[in-house]
Amino acid sequence: MRLRVHPARGPLAGEITPPGDKSISHRAALFGGLADGETEIVGFLEGEDTRATLAAMQALGAEVERRGDRILVRGGRLHAPNGPLDLGNAGTGIRLLTGALAGRPELRGAELVLTGDASLRARPMARIVEPLTRMGASIESTAGCAPLTVRPRALTGGHFELGVASAQVKSALLLAGLSAEGRTEVVSPAPSRDHTERLLPAFGVDVDVQGLCAALQGPAKLTGTKVTVPGDLSSATFPLIAALLVPGSRILLRGVGINPTRDGVLQILAGMVESGAVEVRRVEGGAGDEPVADLEIRSLGPVRGLDISPELVPLAIDEFPALMALAAVAAGTTRIRGAEELRVKESDRIAVMTTQLRRLGVEVEEAPDGATIVGGAVRAGRVDAAGDHRVAMSLAVLGLVAEGPVEIDGADWIATSYPGFVDDLRALGAEVEVENEGHVEVEER
Ligand code: S3P
Repeated sequence: MRLRVHPARGPLAGEITPPGDKSISHRAALFGGLADGETEIVGFLEGEDTRATLAAMQALGAEVERRGDRILVRGGRLHAPNGPLDLGNAGTGIRLLTGALAGRPELRGAELVLTGDASLRARPMARIVEPLTRMGASIESTAGCAPLTVRPRALTGGHFELGVASAQVKSALLLAGLSAEGRTEVVSPAPSRDHTERLLPAFGVDVDVQGLCAALQGPAKLTGTKVTVPGDLSSATFPLIAALLVPGSRILLRGVGINPTRDGVLQILAGMVESGAVEVRRVEGGAGDEPVADLEIRSLGPVRGLDISPELVPLAIDEFPALMALAAVAAGTTRIRGAEELRVKESDRIAVMTTQLRRLGVEVEEAPDGATIVGGAVRAGRVDAAGDHRVAMSLAVLGLVAEGPVEIDGADWIATSYPGFVDDLRALGAEVEVENEGHVEVEER
């Protein structure tokens, strides 16, 4: 599928409700499958990533029923699946599920294979395999990557000091801790998203959080509950940035999760835009005590380049493709450092964004752990999503302020996290053409 995004002819205006949070949807599906009884999920993200996790839980014996806008998951009694568990493009899916299954009592004696698409099979898994193995897990990787073969067996807890601020690694260990004997303690080098720590208590499991240490006592049983998934701030970032860039725009993004371990993008934007351009109106606490807000966005003048503080990187890790697109049209230079983790996401986001932005005439210098971007005019041109949903959406937004249309090949990938993206942009007044709709190639798109 190819998108053609035309330069905006007028301000963007209107209200949208961004799709459900991807991280929380994965956890709701996974915990629901592990939990005894029924879990009701409201606002589940119907994206390819989170559907893959839900399908994996179904293959493991959880019952899944769609009832209107809710999903009911009846879990607790897992069995070995008939074949490999395919997590598609989902890093969160494969890493959290591997941890959760590694010691699961009713699966002991079985052999489970967890795999995914070409991108997922190239992402590092040693970061979970090594510490899980220290808990007693039997996991065979393929040269440090998926496919992973897991033979569930008895685990013991332990104390882990992570080398990287990764919520996926932290969560994989805590979920393994649910079926381990004793206490599992995970110390992160810096804050990372804490959705697992917030949601497990809703399923009846105490998590002891002291600063950068999260711990739980195993074995522990989960009990089904109701989960209301807030809107995804990472998805909301695309219309948000579009509205900041298109002069005169004013939009409202409803029901967006603003968890403080995820709101780095708002902190970074505060240094790039006029005060009042992004207004956060706290509305309520969602499931697992997740703070939720309506965001009002106004374009109040030019965006400024920024030297982004490395401490904010883990708190905005998924927003860097969008921030790089924003930097391309900001006044002055934006410097990103301490972001080497971007190289092991759905794509090598530093290399891919550098290449694609240069195709649109943007001056970008690549660094091992980031990039330096000099803002200026963006040319019309044809770019490629490189198999990465967030790259596709970042480039699409740039088309609204380029000198002519921007065409994005491989836009099918957007369905990974934001299937309604084109509809939402159009609802705000953007002109977006879709070619070859519905066309999906099988592997490397
Ligand atoms: C996620 C954690 C982050 C993030 C990913 C979702 C999660 O990855 O990039 O999109 O749901 O835990 P890392 O924990 O590997 O940084």
